[in-house]
Parts: sequence; structure tokens; C-alpha cells
Amino acid sequence: MESGPSLDSAIAALDRALRAVFAPARAQRPAPSPDPPQGPDPLTPAEQRESAALMRVNHAGELAAQALYHGQALVARSEATRSMLLEAARSESDHLAWCETRLTELNARPSLLNPLWYAGSFAIGALAALAGDRTSLGFVVETERQVEGHLDEHIGRLPVGDRRSRAILETMRAEEIAHGVTAAAAGGERLPVPVRALMRRTARVMTGTAYWV
Ligand SMILES: [Fe+2]
Ligand SMILES: [Fe+2]
Repeated sequence: MESGPSLDSAIAALDRALRAVFAPARAQRPAPSPDPPQGPDPLTPAEQRESAALMRVNHAGELAAQALYHGQALVARSEATRSMLLEAARSESDHLAWCETRLTELNARPSLLNPLWYAGSFAIGALAALAGDRTSLGFVVETERQVEGHLDEHIGRLPVGDRRSRAILETMRAEEIAHGVTAAAAGGERLPVPVRALMRRTARVMTGTAYWV
């Protein structure tokens, strides 16, 4: 069924945006924990600061992923694509909540620029989806591929003793891969090289900034 954004779907999108940015994220599934479980954090103050900076970046990244999918869902042409995107966004909101919990445990705050990351990513998602559902699904494939690479890097950079953050990032990584596979199976098209490069550069601005603020 073909449909453009209606007033109802625009209002639903605004509601999703306000919740994502301003309401505390609520997980539908408990945060992954290390096996065997970890007691109190064994981190030095410097390690704790490093973990917090990395988890702030991941938190901003999850918010941005959710915003991309919300933006794409708003302009999706088919109902099947829209519900797939909203389902992926819901799974990102678990990731967001897990990162938020971990930030609190590390005595740190999310990025102050979160509203900006959300708005920018929403606009990019909506623009990508204007090109049609197959491109939009291809955009999901590419986003998830880049997030997987980014998570690999962060899993390597986390202080060795931070097994709690590592358990969260490893579960997220497995789920991002699954999101990409679902989008590819639904007909996602491979994006042109310059678009992929632009996506990587844009993500770098966000991850580089959210590390500090
Ligand atoms: Fe995620
Ligand atoms: Fe994902």
C-alpha cells in the first residue's frame, strides 16, 4: 500500500522524537550482564572516565540510529517497510536504555547535544527514505554495517576490567548485525560509494564530539 506522511503519522513521529530525546529510555529487556557476573566496578578513575566517554558515544549513536529509523519510517512508501523500521527502532531503544543505565553506573551523563543528534539524524533518515524503500532499506544495511565496525572498535578500546559495558556492546553488536540482515533480505539496495563515505564522515563528527560533550 502506497502512502505519504499524513498528519497522524507526523504527530506520531513528533511523539516518538520527544520520548526518545527527553524521556528516560525504558528497556523491554534487561541489560545484558557479564558471565560470570561482575561485582562492584574494579575500574580506576581514569578507566571509569574512558568507559564513560565511550558509553556516551554509544548512547548518542543509539539515539541517532533510532532517529534515522523514525525519519525513514515517516516517509516509507509501504506499510511493511514502515513496520520493519519501527521494529528496528524499538530494539535500538533497548540499546539506548542499556547505555543510559551503564552511564549512570559510571557516574556520567549522556551527551548534552542529544537533541541535535536526534534532529540531524531524523532529517538524514527522512531524506534517505525519499529515494524509495529499497534505498531506504539499503541505508539500514549500511548504517548497521558501520555501527558494527564502530562497536568492534569500542569493544577493543574499553578498559579490560569493564566487563559490564563489554557485555552490553557485544549484545548490541549481534543485534545490529541482525538488523542489517533483515533489511538486506527485505530488498535493501547497496548504496553508492560517495553516499557511504558521506555517512561515515557524518558519523565521525557525532562520535568525535559526543566523546567530549
Ligand atoms: Fe543499536
Ligand atoms: Fe540496529
